[in-house]
Amino acid sequence: MSQVLGIDVGGSGIKGSIVDVEKGVFIEERIKISTPQPATPTAMAKVVNKIIKGFDWAGKPVGIGFPSVIKNGHALTAANIDASWIDYPIVSKWSASLKCPLNIINDADAAGLAEMRFGKGKDVKGVVILLTLGTGIGSSIFVDGRLMPNTEFGHIQYMHRKPAEKLLSNAARENRKLGWKVYGRELNGYLQYLEFLLNPDLIIIGGGISKKFENYSNQFTLKTPITNAATMNDAGIIGAALATTLI
Ligand code: BGC
Repeated sequence: MSQVLGIDVGGSGIKGSIVDVEKGVFIEERIKISTPQPATPTAMAKVVNKIIKGFDWAGKPVGIGFPSVIKNGHALTAANIDASWIDYPIVSKWSASLKCPLNIINDADAAGLAEMRFGKGKDVKGVVILLTLGTGIGSSIFVDGRLMPNTEFGHIQYMHRKPAEKLLSNAARENRKLGWKVYGRELNGYLQYLEFLLNPDLIIIGGGISKKFENYSNQFTLKTPITNAATMNDAGIIGAALATTLI
């Protein structure tokens, strides 16, 4: 099985493509649909179904990266989606309604898996942290290439005891109308804090904002090497597909 439909469910968009999981590349043009508001389980399933239909993929394997802690087939948290997701048995419900073999993991974990296999984390030993800066902040942590799933470092309390993602995600940067210099400085403070707590060997910035890395990274004063994701914003889709091959 080298082709899997990967779907990256985000707080603002739901995107998918058929992925060659051996090479880590798309083999079809990506489909992107806005996340419905409110982002309830039924409304979101409809959008995912549209993507499955768009690729004529009914009954075939689908990997989904989802913006929540995913444990024992349930979504446990709902920071940027409707509160009705908390404790929702996503795997059983969506498998029944979408009629495809599904594998669902946290979206940042998916992005990290892609970057560790195909991007800048390839063959890196020690502790690697990947952060996705989008609607929220997602985190994934690898030790010698092995994922420690469902970390939530975007929710660390930071300045004024707010969750870091409310201050430093890409959406927060836009809401707060921060210039790149100020954003880079504040992000640096958060990264220094993570560095102090986790002593990583490499930090990788993913998510939409990874493309603009040079706009804010000149403010960084970290001891740890830091870079942007080679798989850029496609990592979530590629990693969701890849994860289906790792179970
Ligand atoms: C969620 C994480 C998710 C991240 C990125 C956070 O608000 O709690 O589970 O990975 O957003 O979507």
